[in-house]
Amino acid sequence: MAEEKERFITSSLNKEDEEFEETLRPQSFSAFPGQEKVKERLQLYVQAAKERGDVLNHLLICGPPGLGKTTLAYIIANERGSKIKTSSGPVIEKPADLAGLLTSLQDGDFLFIDEIHRLNITVEEYLYSAMEDFFIDIIIDQGPGARSVRLNIPHFTLIGATTRQGMLSAPLRSRFALVNRLDYYPPEVLKEIVYRSAGILDINVDDDGAMELARRSRGTPRIANNLLKWARDFAQVRTDGVVSGESASNALEMLDIDKDGLDEMDNRILEAIIFKFNCKPVGVKNIAVAVGEEEGTIEDVYEPYLIQEGYLMRTPKGRMVTNKTLARFGVTPDGEPSLPFDKKEN
Ligand SMILES: Nc1ncnc2c1ncn2[C@@H]1O[C@H](COP(=O)(O)OP(=O)(O)OP(=O)(O)O)[C@@H](O)[C@H]1O
Ligand SMILES: [Mg+2]
Repeated sequence: MAEEKERFITSSLNKEDEEFEETLRPQSFSAFPGQEKVKERLQLYVQAAKERGDVLNHLLICGPPGLGKTTLAYIIANERGSKIKTSSGPVIEKPADLAGLLTSLQDGDFLFIDEIHRLNITVEEYLYSAMEDFFIDIIIDQGPGARSVRLNIPHFTLIGATTRQGMLSAPLRSRFALVNRLDYYPPEVLKEIVYRSAGILDINVDDDGAMELARRSRGTPRIANNLLKWARDFAQVRTDGVVSGESASNALEMLDIDKDGLDEMDNRILEAIIFKFNCKPVGVKNIAVAVGEEEGTIEDVYEPYLIQEGYLMRTPKGRMVTNKTLARFGVTPDGEPSLPFDKKEN
């Protein structure tokens, strides 16, 4: 069950999850609800390049897991009418791997590099000349016989995706003409996404059911889709098969997703700061140890949402909980119970 829960929130997808996501991936801007500003910008960008017959300039898409970075990359290529090749930062280990990828492209193709912040620095440096001047200098042989060979590469568009914009080096970042930041989705938009997915998967969901799932999906389409699937199973086994407000709510409760849409790990993080660290500012390393989760996952997956929803603050001294969180858990700023103590009052 723990593993099952984990899969609703993390971005580590197994094959089955990937196939599920493929079915639900919108193929065009018009089928992609939300992110209006980013979408408008990208649409214009693609249209302009298309009308001129140009290759698009390189672009970067940032944002927490599951908000649609990969989906948008595919939509861009699709709307431009070009092919897209996919790789990811940790997979491109050596300059030769990069050279292989780049030389396999054709003029106008897209290269999508996921987790681009995890490219190693040597490879990254090769990428600079490829992005800017469409060549790479490859060193062949070693020792006294070593020589450098210039490889011309096709005019391609790099789409980089990252969950950690802050970890991108300045030289790499400056080589992207357009940087797009995806935000968490408001419930109304997630509701639309739930309906769309329910239609594709032939799931019977009513208005209250869709809204309940939308409100409690941490602003994330991937989570909304996963919870929809879970709510369908729940409704099938426990009720008449319709995902209603009540059955969705019970289904979510079974996954320990609370009324505010916070999951078990969100709550553990907040509780650790309040009860283990007495509401003092605390570093992410300590939080990670206290809750038994990886530092990176806390920073990429949990914190951004808790910050955006006003439960957590980043301060120069460390992470702190807000008054909203104190009220939620019924404690004073010293971590003492404020009466009546009822941390489930929400
Ligand atoms: N705006 C949207 N409308 C409909 N579905 C969406 C939207 N955004 C994302 N999805 C769906 O959510 C799932 C995850 O999206 P995607 O893979 O694009 O996220 P991501 O940002 O690339 O995540 P990661 O950081 O984990 O790679 C996909 O099934 C996708 O179809
Ligand atoms: Mg992705």
